[in-house]
Amino acid sequence: MNIALVTGSAGLIGSEAVEFFADKFDLVIGIDNNLREYFFGKDAATDWNKNRLSSKIKNYKHVNIDIREVKDLEKIFADYNTDIKLILHTAAQPSHDWAAKEPFTDFSVNATGTVNLLEMTRLHAPQAVFIFTSTNKVYGDNPNFLPLIEQETRWEIATEHAYFEQGIDEKMSIDNTKHSLFGASKVAADVFVQEYGKYFGMKTGVFRGGCLTGPNHSGAQLHGFLAYLMKCAITGNPYTIFGYKGKQVRDNIHSYDLVNMFWHFYQLPKAGEVYNAGGGRFANCSMLEAIRLCEKISGKKINYTYSDNARNGDHIWYISDVSKFKKDYPTWTWKYNLLDTLTQIHDGLSVREIVTN
Ligand SMILES: NC(=O)c1ccc[n+]([C@@H]2O[C@H](COP(=O)([O-])OP(=O)(O)OC[C@H]3O[C@@H](n4cnc5c(N)ncnc54)[C@H](O)[C@@H]3O)[C@@H](O)[C@H]2O)c1
Repeated sequence: MNIALVTGSAGLIGSEAVEFFADKFDLVIGIDNNLREYFFGKDAATDWNKNRLSSKIKNYKHVNIDIREVKDLEKIFADYNTDIKLILHTAAQPSHDWAAKEPFTDFSVNATGTVNLLEMTRLHAPQAVFIFTSTNKVYGDNPNFLPLIEQETRWEIATEHAYFEQGIDEKMSIDNTKHSLFGASKVAADVFVQEYGKYFGMKTGVFRGGCLTGPNHSGAQLHGFLAYLMKCAITGNPYTIFGYKGKQVRDNIHSYDLVNMFWHFYQLPKAGEVYNAGGGRFANCSMLEAIRLCEKISGKKINYTYSDNARNGDHIWYISDVSKFKKDYPTWTWKYNLLDTLTQIHDGLSVREIVTN
């Protein structure tokens, strides 16, 4: 039997992966305990998505456990052992602002939870492929020291800079920079995943995400900015831009395109490899540009205000260079541009708003 094990399976990336893998594996086991509701409140709960998957996907088995509990993880790994061919680890405390509220919780979920899963894999399914969703926050605020130029609606990097054409590559230092506590706990996990590849020879891959987005994000003010912004457009709730004149730039990758990267890696895995993963030059926007796009798609004005207080460690300009991945996996490319993605988010949210109201 071939099994894919997905942690954080009710979240944005985990749920996309469950749907993607359903016809590629005999069984998809998902682990998620809706901790996202504890982090960000009722609006960010992911149980609706778990219910959607459970009713829609016949070979999906949901397990409501916490990745911090090794004994609970061990039960699954001991039951299915080498039938587990893929572990996709997406469960996390994903917000850099939230991490400072409860550093113990953040570290135990992001760092210790990852070590728990790596060790279970090594002991029970050492041949399996292990994929980890890391983050561009491992580079800390290093990107903020690039030569940036202010334009009308966005910050942009100087045209003569090596990063202008494709964005930031994996060679940027992760050292001696302000990561936020979230970035630091993800660095610990990121390096551990690399190490299980380099030291034990396991097939592990680290994907350092830019902004990951898609219609199944349970967007909250502290995490999932495009989904949250669109939610504000639909509901009329106020939105606050924090700092950098609203011109900060993020690249955005649709959850489908990211999971398709994982699928390519699974079929031709490497040991302890690291890739930047984002929308790159293909899909990126500033806050102001995102607001305009959301207004255009929803046909509604967003009720936003501006605060001069930039978020601690927030990036001013970040665009992922994915050319290393493209070189290793030349048949992969993006399917969804920003307009497609935002339209899907809008349509998904509109249905959910109707269902929940
Ligand atoms: N969304 C982004 O913009 C972004 C950017 C870079 C990296 N990432 C990383 O990608 C991964 C997936 O992000 P996402 O947007 O899908 O997050 P998400 O919050 O939508 O999904 C994560 C899921 O994990 C679950 N979870 C959290 N802690 C758990 C625990 N201890 N035990 C069991 N389940 C737990 C949550 O309930 C949630 O459903 C995360 O590791 C995140 O750090 C996300």
